Amino acid sequence: MGPLIGAIDEGTSSARFILFKGGTTDVVASHQVSLSQICPQEGWVEQDPEEILRAVNVCIEATIDKLIALGGTVNDIAAVGVTNQRESTVVWEKSTGKPLYNSIVWLDVRTSSTVDQLLEKIPNKSKNKNYLKPLCGLPISPYFSAVKLRWLLDNVPKVKKAVAANDCLFGTIDSWLIWNLTGGVNGGLHITDVTNASRTMLMNIDSLKWDPVLLNFFGVPASVLPKIKSSSEVYGNIEKGSLSGVPLAGCVGDQQSALLGQQCLQRGQAKATYGTGCFLLYNTGNVKVSSSHGLITTVAYQLGPKAQPVYALEGSVAIAGAALNWLKDNMNLLDSFKDAQKIAEEAELAEAGEVYFVPAFSGLYAPYWQQEARGVIIGISEDTEGCHIVRATLDAVCYQTRDILEAMNKDYGSRLINLQVDGGMTANSLLMQLQSDLAGVKVQKPTMAESTALGAAMVAGAAVGLWDLSRAMDIPCETWAPKLSENERDIRYAKWKLAVERAMGWDV
Ligand code: G3P
Repeated sequence: MGPLIGAIDEGTSSARFILFKGGTTDVVASHQVSLSQICPQEGWVEQDPEEILRAVNVCIEATIDKLIALGGTVNDIAAVGVTNQRESTVVWEKSTGKPLYNSIVWLDVRTSSTVDQLLEKIPNKSKNKNYLKPLCGLPISPYFSAVKLRWLLDNVPKVKKAVAANDCLFGTIDSWLIWNLTGGVNGGLHITDVTNASRTMLMNIDSLKWDPVLLNFFGVPASVLPKIKSSSEVYGNIEKGSLSGVPLAGCVGDQQSALLGQQCLQRGQAKATYGTGCFLLYNTGNVKVSSSHGLITTVAYQLGPKAQPVYALEGSVAIAGAALNWLKDNMNLLDSFKDAQKIAEEAELAEAGEVYFVPAFSGLYAPYWQQEARGVIIGISEDTEGCHIVRATLDAVCYQTRDILEAMNKDYGSRLINLQVDGGMTANSLLMQLQSDLAGVKVQKPTMAESTALGAAMVAGAAVGLWDLSRAMDIPCETWAPKLSENERDIRYAKWKLAVERAMGWDV
């Protein structure tokens, strides 16, 4: 049966464990568990770290049961890698292993006022959001972990107390999982990898080490931070459950993992993952490209402690699939995600002019970085029906992606022709055609849907010599090419930009 490589894929909406045949895209067994979100106030999004850990353990045990039913054993598993939702911030007590607060999820915007306070600290009263970008590649935004950690230190007395007692550990979800899987209070490894660390605003993007200037700016004590490791090396063994004794050999943030899984291993290749949000990553090789057009610079991966890091330019869109959720739960326009395609297709027949929807529910991420922006629906006439709003929601995902592609083209100086895609929303083939039409790119979706988990398996497999990353795997793809004329595409995009201006001009 073996050798097999396992991937723990812990995303915002679900956790899964997948076993791949080493060096291949063949999935042998897998299990998935949904995760809940806690929204105590408008704009606050939390998750229970213990629920996340339980879900991961359930996925592992259920997958192992399936493996055994297929005639395999745990001994067939040569290594396990972890991939995870990024930026979400956990603090826990070293002595007990108990979380000191819920995980503050990447989407959470409670820290808008923390950002305002941090901007006040910038010299010359410039309030320049990009002040720290030369050091960490990121603008100051509620999105990133250091801002969330600052909020926890300021607002949760238990956290302050644990820090004073040297009993507080901080981590993104990868650190929380790895610490628990490798022993927890009995010597668990407190580590993260360069890709996750590059989303905290605390790591220097050149040295790949925690940066004293950044720690000082955010007032974060070094004692709470995990050790930064490469994305592909044997960190230690799993110490709990059926996987006890199996090497933990890879860790990579989920969007970077999807870049690997999509085989974008060469400079100039890019992928978009359509999930809760939409994340475009453009591999820039060993060159760190600083964006002048609202993108962020991030570490794509580092394949071993001595390997040179590979960088990416990233455009993150906060609301993609989350807008369909809103149509379903708040507007009652959909019974399920699957309805979106059928209903949006009705808009073609029920002509009512064009409706534009900018789903800036909690501000806009790249390339605008405007936390004050709010959602706008514009172009409504008396003939507008629900189907037009659904269609405008799909269009919005595509226009936001085009915004990012435009910025990438300007920063990188060449036009992207092919876009690799993955994520739940890519099941919607209308969306895929719209993406191709509205951005003017060829859209390619691998027939193997688990790009994110595959990336984590690849780095773990490479660390134990069971995956060759020097060559991309040949994964068959379904393809969509543009059908809309360039003129029509540009007219529609110009209207989208007008709608975005309205969304950004809301706060007076
Ligand atoms: O930056 C946030 C991103 O990593 C979340 O991804 O797939 O869990 O929504 P996902």
